[in-house]
Amino acid sequence: MDAPRHGLSTRLLHTAEGAQPDATPLTTPIYETSTFVFESAADLQACIDGTSGKYLYSRYDNPSLRSLEAKLASAEEAEAAMVCGSGMGATATALFGLLSAGDEILCSAAIYGGTLHLLQSFLPRFGITARFVDLDTLLDPGPALTPATRLVWFESPTNPTLRCVDVGRVASACRAAGVLSAFDNTFATPYNQQPLALGVDLVMHSVTKYLNGHSDVTAGALMGSTALIGRLAPARKLMGTMLDPAAAAAVSRGLKTLEVRMEKHNANALGLADALSADRRIVRVHYPGLPSHPDHAIARQQMRGFGGIVTLELRDLDAATQFFDRVQVFQRAASLGGVESLCSLPVMTSQYGWTDQQLERAAVTRGMGRLSVGLEHLTDLVADVDQALG
Ligand SMILES: Cc1ncc(COP(=O)(O)O)c(C=O)c1O
Repeated sequence: MDAPRHGLSTRLLHTAEGAQPDATPLTTPIYETSTFVFESAADLQACIDGTSGKYLYSRYDNPSLRSLEAKLASAEEAEAAMVCGSGMGATATALFGLLSAGDEILCSAAIYGGTLHLLQSFLPRFGITARFVDLDTLLDPGPALTPATRLVWFESPTNPTLRCVDVGRVASACRAAGVLSAFDNTFATPYNQQPLALGVDLVMHSVTKYLNGHSDVTAGALMGSTALIGRLAPARKLMGTMLDPAAAAAVSRGLKTLEVRMEKHNANALGLADALSADRRIVRVHYPGLPSHPDHAIARQQMRGFGGIVTLELRDLDAATQFFDRVQVFQRAASLGGVESLCSLPVMTSQYGWTDQQLERAAVTRGMGRLSVGLEHLTDLVADVDQALG
């Protein structure tokens, strides 16, 4: 539309806009568009009927998201994946998409704080209730299930104690009882652990963490069978929990280096945990890769590497606060899974607002400092922790 008879604005709005037919880009372009154009009413009708494969509106679907979803499905060896605007957006999409008033969730007491608050304070307003159980009960969930239980939600390694549960055992107990199993694989990543292969029905990720890996995007994802992800599509569409196309493109770029990043995260975290394991200034180093860790055997069985998180248990909150204030290479920040090392205090971040009873149930102490071990030189990280311990 560049006929000279059109006014300037008309020409600038419509000339050479949209897809460029001769371009074959190496990387996926960012489809930064809120809507898509149709040739005719018949073309639109075919899209609505699902017979043309065309896109209609970016809250429903967008090629940048589809490209990322294909990579994410491949990473978890899932049939299908769905991306959302955050990990919590993905969790909410899954729970609202699968559950109805009167349904019950059985949930590990050792889960991410945001998930706990969603299940405990928010979902009951919609008639969906959660019961929280310890890891031993989770391993043998049968007796804890009621006729109203529809879903079991769990994590391994847990945050911040890094306890590990036998994922395959929980998944097969759920399957035997006809209950869906949903698993937060954020800490391990698909490089270290493949929950779907272990029998879990639905995997959730805070893509904000290792999958994006550069601390510059907030995103979430769900992976599972085509049928299960298909059941969740209306929830994402109607709640508007989509990811922005530019953010999807950034995550797609981050994912390309997941394997090399995870190899280094694993090696640095194991090296740091090893170097600190005999340090008398620390009450306990929590890392599943240490033979002294209570779940080392199951971690070895179901994980390829032990991940990039190390939790230091210090004497009390004062000691943890002093350590937190002194670190120099580690940055004082919530979150994890980025290339740069971070230090956080769980009782002020992921476990903020938990009661003493909730903390005790999840075996979290006020003296814990959680380290997200990044890609810096290991010697610099060990030296930084050493000086921060004073
Ligand atoms: C294990 C785990 N699950 C879920 C979430 C929520 O993800 P997001 O912050 O991307 O919403 C987090 C965030 O810290 C997390 O650590």
